[in-house]
Amino acid sequence: MDSRALQRLIARYVATDPPDSRRMFYTYEPLRYVRLDVAPPSFRKTLAGFLRRSQVPLALYVHVPYCPRRCLYCTCNATACSDRARVREVARLLLRELDLLAPTLAPAGAAGRIDTIHLGGGSPTILADGEFDRLAERLRALAAPHGPREFAVEVDPRAVDTSRLRRYHERGVNRLSVGVQDFEPRVLAAVGRTQARAAVEAVFSPEVRSLYPSIGMDLICGLPRQTVRTWARTLEHVLRLRPDRVAVNPLNVVPGQAAATILRRRGPLPGPAARVAMERLTVDTLVGGGYVRTGFDHFALPHDDLARAVRTRTLHRNLLGYTPGVWHDVVGVGPGANTELGPFRVKNEPLGPWSAALRGGRLPDHHGLLLSRDDLLRADVIHELLAWYRVDVPGLERRHGVRFREALAAELRALAGFAADGLVRLRGEELVVTARGRPFVLPICWAFARASG
Ligand SMILES: C[S@@+](CC[C@H](N)C(=O)[O-])C[C@H]1O[C@@H](n2cnc3c(N)ncnc32)[C@H](O)[C@@H]1O
Ligand code: SF4
Repeated sequence: MDSRALQRLIARYVATDPPDSRRMFYTYEPLRYVRLDVAPPSFRKTLAGFLRRSQVPLALYVHVPYCPRRCLYCTCNATACSDRARVREVARLLLRELDLLAPTLAPAGAAGRIDTIHLGGGSPTILADGEFDRLAERLRALAAPHGPREFAVEVDPRAVDTSRLRRYHERGVNRLSVGVQDFEPRVLAAVGRTQARAAVEAVFSPEVRSLYPSIGMDLICGLPRQTVRTWARTLEHVLRLRPDRVAVNPLNVVPGQAAATILRRRGPLPGPAARVAMERLTVDTLVGGGYVRTGFDHFALPHDDLARAVRTRTLHRNLLGYTPGVWHDVVGVGPGANTELGPFRVKNEPLGPWSAALRGGRLPDHHGLLLSRDDLLRADVIHELLAWYRVDVPGLERRHGVRFREALAAELRALAGFAADGLVRLRGEELVVTARGRPFVLPICWAFARASG
């Protein structure tokens, strides 16, 4: 495609501002979910009923809500905290929540269905060693009898050293996901993240690599002061360290929030053309460097489970990101943690009410909704597009008992412009995002989310 044609497409389809984080489809949720206006019946009852009926494996997600300092771009559910006593209290309450959930979860654990544990945040690395050990022990006991197949921890490289990573390994952790975001000092300074390159390199040292079958790296594309040239240098560092997985998250913001305004002042933020150029550079550099693209924003080395899942077409995406092999439901523990059980999307209480409930010895309330059949159909289409850039129409029709062209007629009409520009093609048995259309996959997905938002 010549550069004038590309500029025209960018002007037409890519917004000037970074994407709205509520539209990022890490897991599909209609926008009304974000307003939390539907309260399900007792979470425990819902969970128990669901676990009785469902047979799919379960992941336990445990949310640690604190970080030592907040990065300016962050849209995660995280609060800055330098008070050890508060961290200790959260660690204690997480154990209490697990104790209260244990009778409900135990049958799934005993049946070997809890096969994944994911400790995220915020920054789980803020936990002191003893706090981490107790949590890891309790989680592994819940995943009895075989223990979890995967035990992942989100690691802030500034908070760990080799001995701590050895300790995690000894407690059963077998996957790390490391927040790096960028390697350029100017970019990191702009977003308030002081991070020595040596700290990142230490996590990818031969000794640590020998302990973990998979270490992933998170980057963000679209940060203030990033340019195509700085991004090329960052990607060179990535290739040198060769993480098993790389997630290149497009920067997203919550429009109108203070952080979005502050970030813009730290700018300049790369505009639409630079963002598209950086994304193309990412694909060219990483795929050229031996990575397999495992979804629109993820890459993995060929030996990694995710790359294998691409080869066997068994790649799934839930709120923990891409998962290889089989679909997992996710039970979220901790303040604001999300739960995804079949059609249920529920959210735990935020930190204040969550703490109060657990101090009072009861499980916090959960809020959320039951996705309709229509929502589930849209979720499936979006997942297929983000993972494979194509929708297998007969497969989708079989799974949902609908006729694709009738059920999503308005959405397909909304894609007419993309089709005329050669970005998507609906022919015969599949809807395909063309090579030319790949940089525009998010706006294409929005066509399928809009109607129910
Ligand atoms: C909860 S953080 C875990 C890592 C750890 N707290 C750290 O920062 O090192 C998960 C990841 O979310 C991503 N993230 C946070 N805010 C984002 C935003 N506004 N846009 C895109 N990605 C974001 C970052 O890549 C971050 O590493
Ligand atoms: S990116 Fe990580 S360390 Fe920074 S505020 Fe978000 S969760 Fe905390």
